[in-house]
Amino acid sequence: MNAEELTLRHGFSGRSDEERYWAALNTCFGGWGDRRRFDWCFTRDGARRRPDILQLESPRGPIAGSAVTYRMVRVAGGVEVIAGIMTGSWTLPDARGAGAFTRLIAASREAVAAAGGTLLLAFVTAANPSRRRLDAAGAGMVPTWYCRSAGTAGQRDDGLRAVAAAGIAQRPIAPTAAGTCFCYTGDEWQGQFVGRPDDVRLVQRPGRWTALVELAPGFARLLTLDAAPGDRPAAIDALTAHARHEGRELFAFTMHADECALLRERGFVVGDGFLAVDVIGQAVGVPQHWHVEHGDRM
Ligand SMILES: CC(C)(COP(=O)(O)OP(=O)(O)OC[C@H]1O[C@@H](n2cnc3c(N)ncnc32)[C@H](O)[C@@H]1OP(=O)(O)O)[C@@H](O)C(=O)NCCC(=O)NCCS
Repeated sequence: MNAEELTLRHGFSGRSDEERYWAALNTCFGGWGDRRRFDWCFTRDGARRRPDILQLESPRGPIAGSAVTYRMVRVAGGVEVIAGIMTGSWTLPDARGAGAFTRLIAASREAVAAAGGTLLLAFVTAANPSRRRLDAAGAGMVPTWYCRSAGTAGQRDDGLRAVAAAGIAQRPIAPTAAGTCFCYTGDEWQGQFVGRPDDVRLVQRPGRWTALVELAPGFARLLTLDAAPGDRPAAIDALTAHARHEGRELFAFTMHADECALLRERGFVVGDGFLAVDVIGQAVGVPQHWHVEHGDRM
């Protein structure tokens, strides 16, 4: 198979095409998720744009796919640009190593350019072949860290308030961290941080810090943590203890080396990753300082 000979197709042709794409995600990622997660990822607007669905088709059917989901990005300095994020990229196991994903990178760049966008982004772990392909395609690679508590007990805080986040229509506290960040309309923020596939909980130490946590089976994703630097160690300890009390590990994503160091000190297991940043056109350089939280991602 030569990836250049495959047909590139945009969008879903119907319900059965969606079902096949969803099945391919579950094959390639091993338990990618349910239909609710599929709809949340692929049928929700970002930056007022529907995700672009790209598929490469051989005579026997689609063998690779990837979506581009959109965000507004505020680059440090204040300029806002449209970014597309490569989301849920897959190649069927027996079609790998023939350039399908490499071709989907090029198709994603074209989709972002057609949407008037300036950046193509992808969140990748260091060990994933996608990291090498994006690097080879010329993307800037900005370090990220995936951090997971590993049996760490944490320090319980009896003053915690934890309630269902459903009904929260806007971010409880405006973000204060500096750096290039995603920005949302009110509805987009609600859909991204609260209306997620799994239940989201607002956990607070009133007057000190506020977090949003998504309760996935087996682990709790720390979506946002608004806390002053001096309150962060106690907040992480309390959130870890809170998650573990319910049989979950706490999973955090960060683009800040000091936050990664804090989590490491607390016994979190850390995996290296990158945000691949491909600049389309010359409107901005590759931003180096990002403030992207777990909740900004899938
Ligand atoms: C990651 C993934 C999408 C890559 O898909 P792929 O279509 O195999 O990717 P490519 O074929 O473009 O590149 C894979 C390798 O084949 C090589 N290759 C590309 N074209 C080739 C060709 N024509 N002939 C031989 N080798 C080729 C590439 O150089 C690359 O080599 P490397 O791993 O040493 O860097 C696929 O492995 C997958 O679905 N993994 C599971 C899901 C996943 O992790 N998705 C990514 C999440 S970020």
